[in-house]
Amino acid sequence: MGSSKKITLSSFLPCCFTPKESESKPKPEQKRVVPSSSPQRLSILDLSNPGSELSISDLSSSLIGSNLHVFTLDELRVITNNFSYSGNFIGEGGFGAVYKGFIHHKLRAGLRAQNVAVKVLDLEGSQGHKEWLAEVIFLGQLRHPHLVKLIGYCCEKEQRVLVYEYMARGNLDNQLFRRYSIALPWLKRMKIALGAAKGLSFLHEENKPVIFRDFKAANVLLDSDFKAKLSDFGFARDGPDGDKSHVTTEHILGTKGYVAPEYVMTGHLTTMSDVYSFGVVLLELLTGRRSMDKNRPRREQSLVEWARHLLRNPRKIDLIMDPRLDGEYSGQGVRVAATLAYQCLSHQPKSRPKMSAVVKTLESILEMKDDIPTKFVYVVPKEEHKRDRVNQVKDHKENGNRLRHNALHKRISNGSDSPRYQR
Ligand SMILES: Nc1ncnc2c1ncn2[C@@H]1O[C@H](COP(=O)(O)OP(=O)(O)O)[C@@H](O)[C@H]1O
Ligand SMILES: [Mg+2]
Repeated sequence: MGSSKKITLSSFLPCCFTPKESESKPKPEQKRVVPSSSPQRLSILDLSNPGSELSISDLSSSLIGSNLHVFTLDELRVITNNFSYSGNFIGEGGFGAVYKGFIHHKLRAGLRAQNVAVKVLDLEGSQGHKEWLAEVIFLGQLRHPHLVKLIGYCCEKEQRVLVYEYMARGNLDNQLFRRYSIALPWLKRMKIALGAAKGLSFLHEENKPVIFRDFKAANVLLDSDFKAKLSDFGFARDGPDGDKSHVTTEHILGTKGYVAPEYVMTGHLTTMSDVYSFGVVLLELLTGRRSMDKNRPRREQSLVEWARHLLRNPRKIDLIMDPRLDGEYSGQGVRVAATLAYQCLSHQPKSRPKMSAVVKTLESILEMKDDIPTKFVYVVPKEEHKRDRVNQVKDHKENGNRLRHNALHKRISNGSDSPRYQR
């Protein structure tokens, strides 16, 4: 993880905490970690102070009020059906595998029965304790309807695990780009963009701003109602202190195709870097194309390079819109969203809008429903439907052979019987 100061928490959180130690109360003589720059929130930099003598119990006591549960590995085995790859695996990123789990109401007092997602650090992977800790510290203290809720964590020996509320529709990347799925309709896309924008806006407007740093479709999770929440705070950073304009990071972290160009060039990180990444996701929502796609012709592989200049031209926008939307969007809404994406993707960080302004614009788009062309599904009239059904049964009885049945079945799956559409 790139940070201006080396995070030395691994030395403060020795790897060998037994479950008992991890749940024990802090000893009175142990030093408490006191946030340095904000009385409200404990920051990663507070914990990287070499003078700290932080233990896991300090961490849990510092996060008191956050209601985080400290799980044991044994409990997590029960929750995830022994980390069953075939039955419970739901995803994977740089941190490690993610499993769906279920917490039984009898597991522990104060914890209701619920589905959860359990993210397990891959001990062979490129991420580690720092990313785990960043998630615990940020999500342990920040609560918002558009941030995924961290329920608890586990820190046993070298194992690092995070337990979140379960998001039934997985990540936006899958929802938007999965081949065999119904295309997300226009208003749902804008609702998702608005939810994610509210999450980022909350982070940026905090008393001590937080830079998310890895905003991308795969880190936007959706609940059963398509409510968007930001997840994956492994690369999150505290914003600049006082009147400083940026934080300088040792390593450039983020995901290719989403990272702001000035951050790549200078290592200077600001909340505006998140705004750029948001612009990329907005462009993905408009075009249905991935930010980087090696399967496309060379000049179309980088979405931003291919589409950015077209966003300014209202007459050309239709050319880059996701064909799977089939023209079913508000023309006015698309023009406003395209202009917004163009501004977020500005090469000048200062020219990008703040996330609070992005939220307002997206809210206005969601109100522009009137001119969305709707396509009507032609429903077969009941009588006709009944007659067809009777004929099918009669045919089947009369012929008594599978051929007829197969032919009918084939006709349906070929789509020749699928409902017709009309404007
Ligand atoms: N709370 C959750 N509910 C449902 N799926 C989740 C949840 N958290 C993570 N996932 C799935 O696991 C993937 C990886 O999770 P993420 O937190 O982004 O991990 P990483 O830090 O490894 O990138 C997500 O893209 C998503 O598909
Ligand atoms: Mg991720």
